[in-house]
Amino acid sequence: MTQSRPLAVITGASSGIGYELAKCCVEHGFDVVVAADEPEIHTAAAELRKTGASVQPIEADLATYEGVESLYGALGGRPVAALLANAGRGLGRAFLDQEFSDIQRVIDTNVTGTLYLVQKVGRDMRALGAGRILITGSIAGFMPGTFQAVYNGTKALLDSFSFALRAELQGSGVTVTCLIPGPTETEFFERADMQDTKVATDKKQPASEVAKSGFEAMMRGEAEVITGWQNKLRAALAHVAPAGALAEQHRAMAKPGGAYE
Ligand SMILES: NC(=O)c1ccc[n+]([C@@H]2O[C@H](COP(=O)([O-])OP(=O)(O)OC[C@H]3O[C@@H](n4cnc5c(N)ncnc54)[C@H](OP(=O)(O)O)[C@@H]3O)[C@@H](O)[C@H]2O)c1
Repeated sequence: MTQSRPLAVITGASSGIGYELAKCCVEHGFDVVVAADEPEIHTAAAELRKTGASVQPIEADLATYEGVESLYGALGGRPVAALLANAGRGLGRAFLDQEFSDIQRVIDTNVTGTLYLVQKVGRDMRALGAGRILITGSIAGFMPGTFQAVYNGTKALLDSFSFALRAELQGSGVTVTCLIPGPTETEFFERADMQDTKVATDKKQPASEVAKSGFEAMMRGEAEVITGWQNKLRAALAHVAPAGALAEQHRAMAKPGGAYE
């Protein structure tokens, strides 16, 4: 890695929104450390390297303390100019029919691992008086997630946490931005076992578009970005509609077999 270029750390960068966020970073002059759980992160890193940037792939399970520590350790004390905490996973189907180990993994990845990493890197940023943090929340955090109940809960936590941390860091030189996408074209729905749902089969926003909005908002130091006008509308509705109505709306989107009704 060169010492002259700022460093960005992107989690969940092997595919989807995270990969596109990493692309934005390398195209805008950052060296990057990219992390994911599976060996595909090395393929993604090779692609990103074609831009000429320094790219360090880290294979680590960010649902575990050890995984987060190995990523943090790999930074070797180099200041992080931007942390893009994006790794996450979904889990479809009815709560009572899900395996508890899968539920635990969603919570550990989306919440525990994310918060642990944000705290470690955030402390260093605060000490330096500079840094940008982007947290990938979701519009799912604004509504009870019928047939995706735990996932939506994890995103509600991240959406809320992001604003709170931003407020705590006011005046510190560190900004926190929440990226709030709606349904996006990635491997997410397949991994969450939701391929037979309406939301999985409907047209979705391209990951590149979502990432561009997130990256730009982070660079401007904005509090949040809800990607796309349809999601802005959904978010506005979610703020006024009763929770029960939102839960019913989510049923239509995420009900197993709903794609074929
Ligand atoms: N797609 C949507 O509709 C949508 C909408 C709103 C928000 N989001 C959020 O966007 C983020 C990215 O998701 P995506 O849609 O781009 O899906 P994706 O293509 O499945 O990407 C998820 C990324 O997270 C990584 N990851 C998952 N669990 C991990 C773990 N335990 N340790 C390390 N890396 C892990 C995956 O790597 P491995 O394959 O190596 O595990 C992958 O790189 C997530 O936080 C998701 O909640 C997605």
